[in-house]
Amino acid sequence: MKRDFLTGAELSRDELLALLRRAGKLKSDPYASSALGKRTVALIFRRPSTRTRLSFEAGIAELGGHPMVLRADELQLSRGESLRDTAYVLSRHVAAIGMRTGPHEQLEELAEHASVPVINMLTAEHHPCQALADLLTLWEEFGSLEGLTLAYVGDGNNVARSLAIVGRLAGVTVRVASPPDYQLDPVADAVLLSDPREAVQDADIVYTDVWVSMSDDASTAQERRRVFAPYWLDDALLDLAAPHAIALHCLPAHPGEEITAEVLYGKRQRIWDQAENRRHAQKALLELLTGA
Ligand code: CP
Ligand code: NVA
Repeated sequence: MKRDFLTGAELSRDELLALLRRAGKLKSDPYASSALGKRTVALIFRRPSTRTRLSFEAGIAELGGHPMVLRADELQLSRGESLRDTAYVLSRHVAAIGMRTGPHEQLEELAEHASVPVINMLTAEHHPCQALADLLTLWEEFGSLEGLTLAYVGDGNNVARSLAIVGRLAGVTVRVASPPDYQLDPVADAVLLSDPREAVQDADIVYTDVWVSMSDDASTAQERRRVFAPYWLDDALLDLAAPHAIALHCLPAHPGEEITAEVLYGKRQRIWDQAENRRHAQKALLELLTGA
C-alpha cells in the first residue's frame, strides 16, 4: 500500500521522531544512503520555488536518484489534460511524485490516482515539508521537542497550519497570533490569539512568514501590509520571548516588512539552518515513503 505525505497527519508520532533522527544522521553523512537507487522522482511546480526545488533536487541526487523537475507549462496539464491521467502516466515511470500547487484538492486528486507516493511541496492550505525541516531545526537547537512552545505571528496560512499539525505530533505547543480576519481555522489544538505580544510571552521559538502568499489575491497586498504591520518580528518582540528564544522564517523573507533585517541576519535566528534542513528532512521522508 503506497503512502502519501499531504498534510503531515499521515505520520505517527514515533514515525515523525524516527524521521527526524534519520534526517540528523543524513545531515552528518549526506551520501550515506543510496535509497533511491537510480529511481526517478517527479517534481511538479505549478507555483514558483527556490528552496523546495533546490532541496528536493539536490536531496534526490544525494540519495542516488534522478530528480525530474516539471514546470506546469511543460506538461499537457497546462493544455487541459486531467490530473487523473497525469497521475496514471507518471506512476508508470517514477518512484514518487512531489507537487506544488494552489488548491489542496488538486494534490488530493493526484494522490488518489497515483500508485506511487505523492508529496505535498506546498499548497495554499498546507506546507508539511517545511514543518519537518522546522522541527529538525528545533531538535538540533533544543535537543528534544516535547514541551517546547512555538509562537507564530502573522498570517494564519499554510505554514502556520502545518506547524500546528506536525508540531502537535511532536509535543510542541503552537500559538498563532493573527489579525481577526486572518486567523487560522481551529486545527490540531493550536492556541489562536490576536495579540503578538501575548503569543510570544516566554516562547522558545518565534516564527513568522510572508504577509502575502503565492495563492493570495495580489490586489489585497496593500491592505494586508496595513493590517499585518503590528505583527512584524523585530528585536523588541523577540525580547518578550524566553531568553534562549530563536527566530525562524520559512523564507522567502521581505526584510522591513514581516521581519526586520536585524532579526533575519542576527544572532538569534536559525533561519539559514532551517532552509538547509529542508534537504535532510525530505531525504528521510523519501526513504520512508519509497520503502527504502
Ligand atoms: N520555504 C519554501 O518553501 O521556499 P520556496 O517557496 O522557495 O520553495
Ligand atoms: N505562505 C507562503 C510560503 C512560501 C514558502 C506562500 O504560500 O507563499
